[in-house]
Amino acid sequence: MDLAVAILLLLLNLASWCTCSDSRLLVKMTLVPNASKIGGFCLDGSLPAYHLHRGFGAGARNWLLQFEGGGWCNDIQSCLERAQTRRGSTLYMNKLEDFNGILSNNASLNPDFYNWNRVKLRYCDGGSFSGDAKFDNGTSVLYFRGKKIWEAIILDLLPKGLMHARKALLSGCSAGGLSSFLHCENFARILPRNTSVKCLSDAGFFMDERDVTLNHTMRNFFENLVSLQGIEENLNKNCTSFLNNPKLCMFPQYFLKYITTPFFILNTAYDVYQFHHALVPPSADTRGDWNRCKLNIASCNTRQLDILQDFRQDMLVALLSSRIYSRRGGMFINSCFAHCQSESQDTWFARDSPQIHSKTIAEAVGDWYFSRITSKLIDCAYPCGTFCHNIVA
Ligand SMILES: *[C@@H]1O[C@H](CO)[C@@H](O)[C@H](O)[C@H]1NC(C)=O
Ligand SMILES: *[C@@H]1O[C@H](CO)[C@@H](O)[C@H](O)[C@H]1NC(C)=O
Ligand SMILES: *[C@@H]1O[C@H](CO)[C@@H](O)[C@H](O)[C@H]1NC(C)=O
Ligand SMILES: *[C@@H]1O[C@H](CO)[C@@H](O)[C@H](O)[C@H]1NC(C)=O
Ligand SMILES: *[C@@H]1O[C@H](CO)[C@@H](O)[C@H](O)[C@H]1NC(C)=O
Ligand SMILES: *[C@@H]1O[C@H](CO)[C@@H](O)[C@H](O)[C@H]1NC(C)=O
Repeated sequence: MDLAVAILLLLLNLASWCTCSDSRLLVKMTLVPNASKIGGFCLDGSLPAYHLHRGFGAGARNWLLQFEGGGWCNDIQSCLERAQTRRGSTLYMNKLEDFNGILSNNASLNPDFYNWNRVKLRYCDGGSFSGDAKFDNGTSVLYFRGKKIWEAIILDLLPKGLMHARKALLSGCSAGGLSSFLHCENFARILPRNTSVKCLSDAGFFMDERDVTLNHTMRNFFENLVSLQGIEENLNKNCTSFLNNPKLCMFPQYFLKYITTPFFILNTAYDVYQFHHALVPPSADTRGDWNRCKLNIASCNTRQLDILQDFRQDMLVALLSSRIYSRRGGMFINSCFAHCQSESQDTWFARDSPQIHSKTIAEAVGDWYFSRITSKLIDCAYPCGTFCHNIVA
C-alpha cells in the first residue's frame, strides 16, 4: 500500500471515529466549592457537583434539573463502603457525563426539552438528597448532607440563570425519582411565583409493600435510612403530622397527596428494582425458588405471576387514590420489567421505545408538561406491554 492511500485510509478512519463521538454529548462536571460553607458534602467529605449543558433559542430560559439515582445506604457499614465509590464521592466519579434521553440536545431524540438548560445533579449522599446529619466516632466520619447538597447546587445555579427561569422541570430516576418527589414543593417555592414548575419522577414510586414472606422489608429499609441520615425533619410536614409513624412519609404513596405542584409519575407496574429488592429480596427467597423467574418472566410459575399481578394491583390502587390522581398530574404506567426509562434513548424516544396507546414516554411527558392533552396512560397487565426493554438486573 502506498503512503498516500494509507494516509487517506487513516483520515477516513479518523473521520468516522469523529462522527461517532460527535453524536454523543459529553458534558463536563462542575464542582460546587461554596457548598462547604453550608456543610454540603458527599459521604466522604468531598465537594458535590453537577453537569450543566446550556439551553438555546426558545429554550434558553427553561431549566430541567435531573437528580442522579443509585440506591441508598442505610447503615454505617454500607455508607462507609459507598463513601469510597462513585456513589459516595465526587473523587471517584466520571468527570464527563453522557447526556441522552431526556438530557439529549438533539430535537429528533428529545423533542420537547432538547433546547432547555439541562442539569444533572450528581448523587453522592446515599439518602436521596434529603439527609442532614453527620457520623463521627473519632476514627470514621460520614456526611449525610443530601439536603445541603441540594441547597448548595440551587444557590450555585440561581445566578447562572435559574432565577429567571420561565419553565422548570425537576426530574430523576430511582433514588433520584424519589428525590424529585421529595423536593418538588420546595423547588417550586425557591423559584419565582410566575415560573411554571413541574416535577417528573421516573421509577421513584417505591411502595410500602410487604415481601413474599410478609416481612416489611422495604419499610424497615426506609425507616433505618430516615433515622441514620436525619431525614425525618425534611419530610413533608403535612404527612409527618398526620401519620403515627412519620418515617413512612418517605413513601410517595403517603405524601404525594399533600403536594400541590403538578407531577408526572413514570413507572413500570413491575418495577424490577422493587420486584428484586422489596417484593422478593434474597432474604425472602433463601431457597432460590424465584431465581429463574427473576431472570426471565416467561419462567415464572402461576403462583409467582399471581404475586406479580397483585403487586401491580396494589400499585394502581395507591396511584388512583383520588388525591394523587389529580387533574394536573400525568402518568405513564407500563407493563414492562424495567427500571428507569427517561434517561436512555432506547426507552425515552425511539422507533421501538415503550408505548401505551401508541404514545412514547417522551411524547406523554411532553403532552403533560405543555398541557397539550391530559396524559394519564396505564397499560393493561402483563403480557401487555409494547416495545418493552426488559432488564433482569
Ligand atoms: C440527531 O439525531 C438524529 C437521529 O438519530 C441523527 O440522524 C442526527 O444526526 C442527530 N443530529 C445531531 C446534530 O447529532
Ligand atoms: C467507628 O466506627 C467504625 C465503623 O463502625 C468502627 O470500625 C470503628 O471501630 C469505630 N471507632 C470507634 C473509636 O469506636
Ligand atoms: C461563593 O460565595 C462567595 C461569597 O459568598 C461569592 O462571592 C461567590 O460568587 C460564590 N461563588 C459561586 C460560584 O457562587
Ligand atoms: C416574572 O415576573 C418578573 C417581574 O414582573 C418578570 O421580570 C419576569 O420576566 C417574569 N417571568 C416570567 C417567566 O414571566
Ligand atoms: C398542609 O398543612 C397546612 C398547615 O397545617 C395547611 O394550611 C395546608 O392546606 C396543608 N396542605 C395540604 C395540601 O393539605
Ligand atoms: C424478616 O425480617 C427480619 C428482619 O429484617 C429477619 O430477621 C427475618 O428473618 C425475616 N423473616 C423472614 C421470614 O424472612
